[in-house]
Amino acid sequence: MSDRKILVTGASGKLGKQVVSYLLEDFAVSPSQLIVTTRKAESLKALADKGVDVREADFANPDSLVEAFKGASSLLLISIDAAGPRTQPHLNAVAAAEQAGVEHIAYTSMPAAEQSPVVFAHEHEATEKAIKDSAIANATIMRNNWYFENIPEYFASILQTGHWLTSAEEGRSAQLSRKDLAYAAAAALVSPAKGIVTLLLNGGKSQTHAEMAQLMDKVLGTSINMVNLTDDQYQSQLETFGLPEPIIALCTTMDHHNRENLSDGTSEAFEQLTGRKPQSFEAWLEANKTELQKLANL
Ligand SMILES: NC(=O)c1ccc[n+]([C@@H]2O[C@H](COP(=O)([O-])OP(=O)(O)OC[C@H]3O[C@@H](n4cnc5c(N)ncnc54)[C@H](OP(=O)(O)O)[C@@H]3O)[C@@H](O)[C@H]2O)c1
Repeated sequence: MSDRKILVTGASGKLGKQVVSYLLEDFAVSPSQLIVTTRKAESLKALADKGVDVREADFANPDSLVEAFKGASSLLLISIDAAGPRTQPHLNAVAAAEQAGVEHIAYTSMPAAEQSPVVFAHEHEATEKAIKDSAIANATIMRNNWYFENIPEYFASILQTGHWLTSAEEGRSAQLSRKDLAYAAAAALVSPAKGIVTLLLNGGKSQTHAEMAQLMDKVLGTSINMVNLTDDQYQSQLETFGLPEPIIALCTTMDHHNRENLSDGTSEAFEQLTGRKPQSFEAWLEANKTELQKLANL
């Protein structure tokens, strides 16, 4: 590839780390072509030692951002994991990318950002809009479907208790692995879109929660009991567990989103971008079997 520089924000995070690894190892980007940002530069010392330009950038601190983004041709804006409103920090990052003269921006959004009832959907919608309204001519809006990893990271109780509480009914979602989404992001940076392109990055098979549970039983040896609830019943049940209100709202609105089939779809865009098929849920379960069985006490 040419000597254009690629910048990855959130490079210490789970997705960002994997994007950087794919860029260096699979896409032959040299360390000198890569800029990475984090709020804690010491966390990326290993990359700095390899010759990657490690810079500090906090989206909540707009003053530092333009300097941090200078010199980048293509910039991957990884949505932040902050608790609380993310819109302003994201808009700060888009404005700084524009001022720094970035030619192409890629952004990790979510499916159906405008219609979705999920509590944080409006933050993705506002960020997409800011990108489209900016002077940055080229953008890849990656509408990343749900990570398979959400099961052990956020919904481990399914494995721990053997009960899958859900109000998603027969709604389907085409989930995929975080690694596949990282590979797609690396591909989008190496071959930047011309103009504004929105990609629906889905897994290869759209499944109901019950179908996913059946695969978990088959591969992991669990015996998951589907507990089908209305949104109100799901909320009341979660309240009895003493969960904080924002977590309860997140769970119920995600299932509302899934019930409306807003994460349904095919892997066509993923395959076109990456030239490969996403890992299936069954293969992902096999690859992570030991860790998942441990959560299920098996
Ligand atoms: N599709 C899905 O199912 C799904 C699931 C989970 C999350 N997500 C989204 O995808 C993103 C990446 O996922 P992940 O698993 O890699 O999450 P993660 O490991 O929690 O990484 C989040 C990143 O956000 C960065 N960040 C937080 N606050 C920031 C700020 N004020 N300024 C600049 N950077 C900030 C952190 O960077 P530093 O700490 O290095 O500054 C960190 O690298 C998440 O942040 C979230 O928006 C999607």
